[in-house]
Amino acid sequence: MATWTTKDIPDQSGKLAIVTGATGGLGLETALELAAAGAEVILVGRNEAKGRAAGALIRSRHEDAQVRFEIADLARLASVTAFAGRMLAAGRPIDILVNNAGVMALPKRETTVDGFEMQLGTNYLSHFALTARLLPLLTAAKARVVQLSSMAHRSGKIRLGDLQYEQGYRPWPVYSQTKLAMLMFALELDRRSAENGWELTSVAAHLGAASTDLIANGPAAGGGLMAWLGGMAINVIGHSAAQGALPQLMAATMPEVTGGQYFGPQGWKELKGPPGPGNIERQALDAEVAAKLWTASERLTGAVFR
Ligand SMILES: NC(=O)c1ccc[n+]([C@@H]2O[C@H](COP(=O)([O-])OP(=O)(O)OC[C@H]3O[C@@H](n4cnc5c(N)ncnc54)[C@H](OP(=O)(O)O)[C@@H]3O)[C@@H](O)[C@H]2O)c1
Repeated sequence: MATWTTKDIPDQSGKLAIVTGATGGLGLETALELAAAGAEVILVGRNEAKGRAAGALIRSRHEDAQVRFEIADLARLASVTAFAGRMLAAGRPIDILVNNAGVMALPKRETTVDGFEMQLGTNYLSHFALTARLLPLLTAAKARVVQLSSMAHRSGKIRLGDLQYEQGYRPWPVYSQTKLAMLMFALELDRRSAENGWELTSVAAHLGAASTDLIANGPAAGGGLMAWLGGMAINVIGHSAAQGALPQLMAATMPEVTGGQYFGPQGWKELKGPPGPGNIERQALDAEVAAKLWTASERLTGAVFR
């Protein structure tokens, strides 16, 4: 197959897309390309000033772009519920949902407003709740739903007995668990969509490694040598945010995509390269654990898929 690029994105005119974490990094690149292809794109983020700047940047590149910012702080379930409520009140079916936002390997255990461990709450639980609350609008459009996973899912374990890492917090295993949870969520949503006739195309993607704010916002918060070294390392082993966004754009727009697929870069160790099928680690295919994680997520968030 020829290398897939943004030129292969089909016309998205008439579609409504939502991208979380669209104020920077991969989310902004994803929103930009969806808007360039004609979709109306809602940029979701926690920072209004950054959201406006992201919208302005997209419009400066594509003057006809239909983009707007909506606030939703994924570290606050009430904010996620309020955003979903605004969407439900407007009633417009949603064609594409890209659950992209995330934080990585926070050095110390922090908690969300709802008391969830910060990485689990931001990266996974809020996206679970958002998807559940938007379900009527997603099914109405037979939507494409994309969860952002990571190579980190390979070392991830779902700690059903202590999902929140109340015992023995370690930044990287906690991050890996959230990214495994996102991949398992995509696969479980695909299974449940088939069982319940929701007609969603539920898929996942990862980007390998790309130069974004993720390191500075996480393991190297506060800047300094760690931030500089982390940035240098990613520049060497990874690719740009624009290239990194290709697997999720492929997942969101390629007509041949079917539910349960996983996309990532095709280069060495899937760190960079053109987009294509990604490798799913065995533990992500455990449907029993996925079902238990789903039940726990409904209980924790109070958001139910119906
Ligand atoms: N970069 C990589 O090498 C890499 C590798 C594997 C996976 N990923 C995944 O790719 C996704 C995008 O990351 P990125 O690299 O683009 O990082 P980034 O540049 O730090 O962007 C993360 C985005 O998430 C948003 N966000 C963080 N916390 C939020 C919250 N509480 N509520 C709403 N939005 C929030 C950020 O908003 P602010 O602008 O307000 O900070 C930003 O828009 C993440 O899911 C990450 O796990 C990245």
